[in-house]
Amino acid sequence: MANKLSWWKNAVVYQIYPLSFRDTNQDGVGDLEGIIEKLKYLNDGTEKSLGIDAIWLSPIYPSPWADFGYDVSDYCAVHPALGNLATFDALVEEAGKRGIKIIMDLVVNHTSQEHPWFQESRSSTDNPKRTWYIWQDENEEEGPPNNWPSFFGGSAWTRDARTNQYYLHKFLPEQPDLNLWNPEVQEAILASVRFWLERGVAGFRIDVADLLLEDNSFADAPVINAPVGHDVAEPIRWEKVYWRPETHEFLKKLRKLLDEYGAIGIGEVSPAHMLDFYGAEDDELQLPFNFSLIGMPWSAAPIRSAINSYESSLGNGQWPNYVLGNHDNKRLSSRIGPENARAAALMLLTLRGTIFLYYGDEIGMEDVPMNRDQLKDTPSLRFSHKESRDPARTPMQWSNEFAAGFSGAEPWLPIHENCQTLNVEAQDKDRLSLLALYRRLIHLRKKSVALSSGAYESLYVIPKTILAYRRYTTSEEYLIIINFTDKTVRPDLSEYHFSGCCVLSTHSLYNTKQPKLLQKIILRPREGKVFRIY
Ligand code: NOJ
Repeated sequence: MANKLSWWKNAVVYQIYPLSFRDTNQDGVGDLEGIIEKLKYLNDGTEKSLGIDAIWLSPIYPSPWADFGYDVSDYCAVHPALGNLATFDALVEEAGKRGIKIIMDLVVNHTSQEHPWFQESRSSTDNPKRTWYIWQDENEEEGPPNNWPSFFGGSAWTRDARTNQYYLHKFLPEQPDLNLWNPEVQEAILASVRFWLERGVAGFRIDVADLLLEDNSFADAPVINAPVGHDVAEPIRWEKVYWRPETHEFLKKLRKLLDEYGAIGIGEVSPAHMLDFYGAEDDELQLPFNFSLIGMPWSAAPIRSAINSYESSLGNGQWPNYVLGNHDNKRLSSRIGPENARAAALMLLTLRGTIFLYYGDEIGMEDVPMNRDQLKDTPSLRFSHKESRDPARTPMQWSNEFAAGFSGAEPWLPIHENCQTLNVEAQDKDRLSLLALYRRLIHLRKKSVALSSGAYESLYVIPKTILAYRRYTTSEEYLIIINFTDKTVRPDLSEYHFSGCCVLSTHSLYNTKQPKLLQKIILRPREGKVFRIY
């Protein structure tokens, strides 16, 4: 059908960090069986479940877990602690029965140092796999080949005593960079992608998609200040050497393969050049991640301007997406304050585009305070300037039982003491819980063509501490209005002559049945409301 939207445009995608979702074999880390067990929580076809459309799995491949799966030692298998290919196939099948698609993480800038490709590559300078990684001689002062920095800290080069050359790693030394200039490497990656597509995977989230090829002249990067917002210790213009136009050529090949299967490519790319990754002919990633709101203070003015500038920058055919949390950042509730979590949910699920939701944010999980001896995240253990990502990766809080119902064993990361009250089971029983609000929002979005795929228009409303926008099609219209302050406000809407009913509030179950003229709406502190406009 010509104008039927692709499935992913209307999707709410739920990110699962597999080690922390549900452990069924009592080893303290989550597993694929655990995800299968919880599918009905995610979508049982009724409004009693969350109602998500797809799961993005953070890496499930075999890995020594130096970066908890972002260091892959086999692209065509499942980590034995998480399951095996049969469990994976069962997950795809069981998820499919509930209308849930599976999106994999594709980590191909680098492998693990334990990947057999690297083992071969490092074995001798004339090994056929030598050119699958990036090897260079030391510089004149017997140091690393150039000044390129690792994103986790220190130099991006490590000397390997076996052959006396240095290999490149933009992340940990345990994560050697693949040489994507080599067509054989590209072919091997695409073959792995096909392997999973054949098993029914609906798409890939591509790790550091803008960094896949680097300057192959290996000249020093200019030394000035790093772009604002980039967490690299050294003042080195790394983007000059790590962002290469040839990366786009590889992504085009990947896109062609994805298109054969109707699959989606979602890319982790820097906001600075995110739009380029749709491709000049819309022939690269369907969704370059939009991270513009993930680090933003909870304040109406900057959020309004980020949404509006993102919306107005998108070209024809470039579909938006929104993300408020993921495994690399502080928990949403901890970042903006639990008191704002309800309004954030309402905003996220009424914006235009594909929505990404990080597991546990739907119950308001918070960062878990940890001692240094509880930390697992390697960069934070090795480099003092690196904040640990562990506090936002802790086990899902299912109930107030042992280990929050996550596992019968001691979990791999500590669980927040608030799990006694902040858990799925408790929120399931409470019609006013955050979980209940997420469910109502997702189901309202699903039922409404305007909310799931209609246009967006920002509204000018006084006071400016209010965020207001319309979502509409020719047949349906909604007004969304959110109070970012801790005071009751009465924004004046008289100039818009809206007439409508309140269909959802963050603060109550109260709905209005009869449309009335919306002039001075009352919003309680931090309240958000959705009105159906007639
Ligand atoms: C980005 C991932 O999101 C992060 O978790 C990982 O450590 C790095 N890429 C390296 O793969």
